Amino acid sequence: MTEKATLTMPDGSTYEVPVTVGSEGERALNISRLRADTGYITLDDGYGNTGSCESAITFIDGEQGILRYRGYPVEDIAKHCSFIETAQLLIWGELPSAEDRTRFSDLLTENSTLPEDFRRHFAGFPQHAHPMSILSAMINALQSYDLPGLVINDDEEFERVSAALLSKVRTIAAAAYKSSIGEPIMYPRYDLRYVENFLHMMFSKPYRDYVPSAEATSALNLFLLLHADHEQNCSTSTVRMVASGEASLYASVSAGVCALWGKLHGGANQAVMEMLTYIRESGMSTKDYIAKVKSREDGIKLMGFGHRVYRNFDPRAVILQDACEKLLDSLHITDPRLDIARELAQTALSDDYFISRKLYPNVDFFSGIILTALGIPVEMFTVLFAIGRMPGWIANWKEMHDDPTGRIYRPRQVYTGPTEREWVNRFQRERGMTDSRGFKVPDDLRP
Ligand code: CMC
Repeated sequence: MTEKATLTMPDGSTYEVPVTVGSEGERALNISRLRADTGYITLDDGYGNTGSCESAITFIDGEQGILRYRGYPVEDIAKHCSFIETAQLLIWGELPSAEDRTRFSDLLTENSTLPEDFRRHFAGFPQHAHPMSILSAMINALQSYDLPGLVINDDEEFERVSAALLSKVRTIAAAAYKSSIGEPIMYPRYDLRYVENFLHMMFSKPYRDYVPSAEATSALNLFLLLHADHEQNCSTSTVRMVASGEASLYASVSAGVCALWGKLHGGANQAVMEMLTYIRESGMSTKDYIAKVKSREDGIKLMGFGHRVYRNFDPRAVILQDACEKLLDSLHITDPRLDIARELAQTALSDDYFISRKLYPNVDFFSGIILTALGIPVEMFTVLFAIGRMPGWIANWKEMHDDPTGRIYRPRQVYTGPTEREWVNRFQRERGMTDSRGFKVPDDLRP
């Protein structure tokens, strides 16, 4: 029997709301017919309580600190999977067979280069351009080069476009970096795997190949797969929103990059590093910094702390902290910002302000130290997040594309502006006249 909840409406009548139950027992009041049946909508500023879709990709239990991709705990994925296997799992729902792996790997290789005349677009950006603006613009521009990929009619075409996006986004990111430092753009190599190839394009020079250590490759692989999906976050919801209007995969993902850029979302990894650097360079103690955050002076937050969904711990942060310590050890790097991060976390985790609000380190808190150890400049951090999140965006786009019952996303609102007003023509406005209800026409409406 379908579960139902009963709403008592302001006029005393009742309305039965069906309950949708997820595979992990999550319960949602399904209000999709509420307005049609009662005239009411629901209001949920910031979507804190709104399920915008049903999805079979990623499960999060924020109270227990659980994150699973297609049912597999992220801890297992982190131990056993490459980023590309994780991408295949997220996009197609199952871990790839040997045959799937080879075919996809070939597709990634075949699609790794940028069209030769596309490369000249990099010269159109000023040297100080943020690589996130280059990345979103370039993904959008890519669709002009892949006209068959704009309307995806079969599985083969979808696989090719997915491989092209995953592969080219890495080439674009490295090319954006090379352009920003005035070095020649490196071509991808056909003998390197995904992560090594990215590091090669970032750090090789025409006269000297960069060979990353196994530890560096594995740390970046881990970073990418831990960012691969996170259900209906700001950027993924943006991808779904754009996709719901039947925009192409390229256009939808490019919008996702823009949504990710903000410092409350993917931009937080850059903001964390800037915060740690500021504390170090200013000589401020971590206690004083925490006191500044708590006083809400200047509206600063403890970047890399807090999460809309995790109210206990972020499992990605736990894995990344451990990986961070091991990487610095293996590369014999000491980074004083890691000590500052540890101290900040310790102070915050025993402070009532953070305890009472259930604020814990999130995925961005330690990730920047890993990226810094790998030689990635801070402006590129959010770009690395975008490369990592690409499989999740593609998987969500596919889920919508494959759903024959899908509709355009179109939320409603509760309007709070002026009620209908009488038109005051320019002549009357210029003389400061009032409308017939006696409202003074504001000065700033004068031409
Ligand atoms: N530092 C200080 N206070 C905080 C922080 C923080 N990092 N995060 C939340 N709070 C306070 C907030 O001011 C509010 O206090 P009060 O109830 O007294 O008004 C309370 O905690 C609840 O926070 P909220 O703003 O309602 O939480 P939210 O769910 O709207 O925002 C968040 C979540 C991640 C945007 C927020 O915690 C934040 O701004 N964190 C810092 C930025 C950051 O690290 N972002 C990365 C998120 S994880 C990666 C990703 O998915 O993008």
